[in-house]
Amino acid sequence: MTADSDTPRPEVVEGEAGVERAAAVIRAGGLVAFPTETVYGLGADATDPVAVGRIFAAKGRPADHPLIVHLGDPGLVEAWADVVPPEAHLLADAFWPGPLTMLLWRSPKAPDAVTGGRDTVGLRVPDHPLALRLLEAVGDGVAAPSANRFGRVSPTTAADVVADLGDAVDLVLDGGPCQVGVESTIVDLTGGAPVVLRPGGVGLDRLADVLGDEPRLHVGPAPERAARAPGMLAAHYAPRARVVVADEAEAATVAAELVARGDGRVGLLAPRVTDGLPPEVVELEPAGTPDEYARLLYARLRQADRLRMTWLVCVPPPARGVGVAVRDRLARAAAAHQR
Ligand code: TXA
Ligand code: MG
Repeated sequence: MTADSDTPRPEVVEGEAGVERAAAVIRAGGLVAFPTETVYGLGADATDPVAVGRIFAAKGRPADHPLIVHLGDPGLVEAWADVVPPEAHLLADAFWPGPLTMLLWRSPKAPDAVTGGRDTVGLRVPDHPLALRLLEAVGDGVAAPSANRFGRVSPTTAADVVADLGDAVDLVLDGGPCQVGVESTIVDLTGGAPVVLRPGGVGLDRLADVLGDEPRLHVGPAPERAARAPGMLAAHYAPRARVVVADEAEAATVAAELVARGDGRVGLLAPRVTDGLPPEVVELEPAGTPDEYARLLYARLRQADRLRMTWLVCVPPPARGVGVAVRDRLARAAAAHQR
């Protein structure tokens, strides 16, 4: 996709030339949606509170929600964080660039606009060639939440970003579909032992390999109330379709019951083809392994909305690797409609 003068904003650019344009927009205080390996981010100069403020306006997001600072060079951690514990070095060596965000005590460099006034800052080096080149060209931190409107699922293609944000973003850097597909794993390193606040692209098993012990996973009915990761509201991960989580063995029965209620279209998302489905059920293309399920998850949820499904029965992948993050998002999506 290349924009010409007749194309409505936002302009969509690709490749090396696109990176230069994108870096110039960010340095000038503008907003750029850019690809990462997890989901597309909506980026602004993290050192400029006015530019960061524009992110909240574009997303319709409350200003006290903290943003992750994206770095092109792990060496910049020392500038953004006040204290860098040994675990942070271990995790950075093992997983950066990659889908891991670390919460550390912030340095004075991190503006309140980025941290939501907290004493901590979230840092990550993303694993995407265009993102890394963009961050290197900017030369410092880029604050970026996922590039969706507040309360929508994260975008995994440039087209998703355009559909959600339209001309609220100055430029979209198109790097193709995201390969991980769910957001980064967030590890809080500001307490005694590391705590995972959001499961994501780096599985808990891989964290355990590096840390020695599997870190505690923060669970609870309302983690946002703990104010540690306030963006973890259930609605953030929900499509318009009502998600119902079901085991493989019960999925056909659950779907048949929903069809029998007669209040709207029923879809199904599962790792494998499901036998015994009523003909009315729209089966989305199966997503086999946990990795594939994660990569396709948000595209499938958006597809369910485009197909005007009222219900989406989801058979989760096994709870290994990134499958834990997929199950977390599906559970949140299901909970969003029960409140
Ligand atoms: O994969 C990702 O992490 C993507 C890509 C673009 O990097 N970003 C992303 O950002 O998912 P966002 O803003 O949609 O989610 C970041 C989460 C939010 O729940 C936010 O509250 C939490 O991280 N967070 C960021 N900084 C924090 C801090 N200092 N303290 C507590 N929570 C923080
Ligand atoms: Mg988000």
